[in-house]
Amino acid sequence: FPVERIRNFSIIAHIDHGKSTLADRFLEITGAIAKTASNKQVLDKLQVERERGSTVKAQTASLFYQHDGQTYLLNLIDTPGHVDFSYEVSRSISACQGVLLIVDANQGIQAQTVANFYLAFEAQLTIIPVINKIDLKNADPERVEKQIEKVFDIPKDECIRISAKLGTNVDQVLQEVVKRIPHPTARVEDPFKALVFDSTFDHYRGVVANIALFGGHVSRGDKIVSAHLGKPYEVNELVSVGCTNLTFDLLHFDILALRYAGQVGYIGDTLYLQKQPVEPLPGFKPAKAMVFAGMYPMDQSEYTALRSAVEKLTLNDSNVTVQRDSSLALGAEWRLGFLGLLHMEVFNQHLEQEYNASVIVTALTVPYKAVLASVKLIKEHGEEVITIINPAQFPDKSQVVEYLEPMVMGTIIAPDDFTGKIMTLCQSRRAIQKNMFYIDDHRVMMKYIFPLNEIVVDFYDQLKSMSSGYASFDYEGAGYEAADLIKMDFLLNGRPVEELAIIVHKDSAYSAGKAICERLKESIPRQMFEIAVQAAIGSKIIARETIKAYRKNVLAKCYGGDITRKMKLLKKQAEGKKKLRRIGNIDVPKDAFINVLKRK
Ligand code: GTP
Repeated sequence: FPVERIRNFSIIAHIDHGKSTLADRFLEITGAIAKTASNKQVLDKLQVERERGSTVKAQTASLFYQHDGQTYLLNLIDTPGHVDFSYEVSRSISACQGVLLIVDANQGIQAQTVANFYLAFEAQLTIIPVINKIDLKNADPERVEKQIEKVFDIPKDECIRISAKLGTNVDQVLQEVVKRIPHPTARVEDPFKALVFDSTFDHYRGVVANIALFGGHVSRGDKIVSAHLGKPYEVNELVSVGCTNLTFDLLHFDILALRYAGQVGYIGDTLYLQKQPVEPLPGFKPAKAMVFAGMYPMDQSEYTALRSAVEKLTLNDSNVTVQRDSSLALGAEWRLGFLGLLHMEVFNQHLEQEYNASVIVTALTVPYKAVLASVKLIKEHGEEVITIINPAQFPDKSQVVEYLEPMVMGTIIAPDDFTGKIMTLCQSRRAIQKNMFYIDDHRVMMKYIFPLNEIVVDFYDQLKSMSSGYASFDYEGAGYEAADLIKMDFLLNGRPVEELAIIVHKDSAYSAGKAICERLKESIPRQMFEIAVQAAIGSKIIARETIKAYRKNVLAKCYGGDITRKMKLLKKQAEGKKKLRRIGNIDVPKDAFINVLKRK
């Protein structure tokens, strides 16, 4: 396919501004799919995404589009919208020359609109602003165009007003893609060189790599080499055989070889033909995990099955970092690193749904650091500053010069009616305001430096609910700062529960300890005996709640009668038990470990 008639582009937007709907319209217009209700949002392939109605993983589609009597090949890369996944966005756009920046005509610019704009801007891509949902009663495209001019310095007249839902002006968007976005510069004559920017594990096909071609071409049967691993693979299947200079799915590697080769290492890798080696491309900086949690099977006998599920899923999601870990209390486990809480929940749900694995996730923690005090300790650890991703490994104060906690720069956009409330919320999270300005007559953009720990679990939910859903939030890493940290344990009937241990700032220790004890009391069902729930710092108890004894007899109502009814009830009780984790002789619901961290 002639390179002049290829366009590689991505759609970026704040969550729910209509990316997937627009992508569906593109597919219809270009005839890639038939217009039916059942294939709505075909780009959102994964089951979890369907359920949540949200895109978490980039997908690609190739479209043929007629313009001025010529056929163009448009490669569309879908990107996720949630704040947890901006890293995924930046990877996707590395394969593009341009982006469509979608903004909802009613909501206007939101926090992720800003974050996504800068990703595209820094990558020097052509940015086409598209104002969507102009059919809405409260749509105000004029105001949104002004915002775009003020915040991004893009002239108003470059904006395209559309309704993805009704199809209004959608064709014009494709015309502008052809006109404004430059074609890729790769040449067929050059040696084959491609960047792996994503990969998935498909139950039927095996490992599928999404690649961006930077030169040459590849065919079925070719032997290609991964620069990073130095391993040769045979190309078994290509989505667009013979096409060049485009982003396409390169299918079906030798699965076993890749699975054992350290699953996640090869995203950002360069592929080349075995007989024609090239200089590798720069690749990507590794994704930075923002939260860590331990994950282990409900039952240690399921360890092997869970291991294989985790391996497949991490192939699908290279943003998850994995470390083997084991603890006296929990047995073999993994310490998994995620980009954020939603990312972790999605991963967990994938594990349960697609691989039938039942797992316990421990209380999560952000990556803290400690500067070690003695030469002896530094020698032992092999470094002066250690990173702590497991509260169980939190070094005692006597061993450190200081503790450090990760910080983020948060961007909040909201109507100005909520400014006061938002400032109070931010202060309660130890945040420091850096900047504040109006993006139009009514909307304010605020910048705060937050300790990551203060926003990772429930900040976004609180912000949303106090602003009736109008505030949006995004953040990026902002280094480390010294902090007074302590480890807090939680005890059930005097026995410390390792999966509940957390690291907290000294100033919030008492309130956190008290609140978590209260929430544990709520989430642990009454049992046959009384349970003491305690929070402790070292050997000092700082909070306590009591769960009263309760006798539950599921058969009491049956009066010895109907046997099938009896069996049914017993089965139901057994199923209920599966969701409980036994600690000592106490049953704890398995989602309690995360839920107790969520503030009301
Ligand atoms: P994520 O994938 O979750 O990031 O969302 P998205 O940006 O892909 O948004 P999606 O296409 O799922 O649309 C979000 C909601 O807006 C859906 O309920 C759509 O039906 C609706 N929507 C999308 N485009 C339009 C439009 O032009 N007009 C109206 N009225 N609604 C729209």
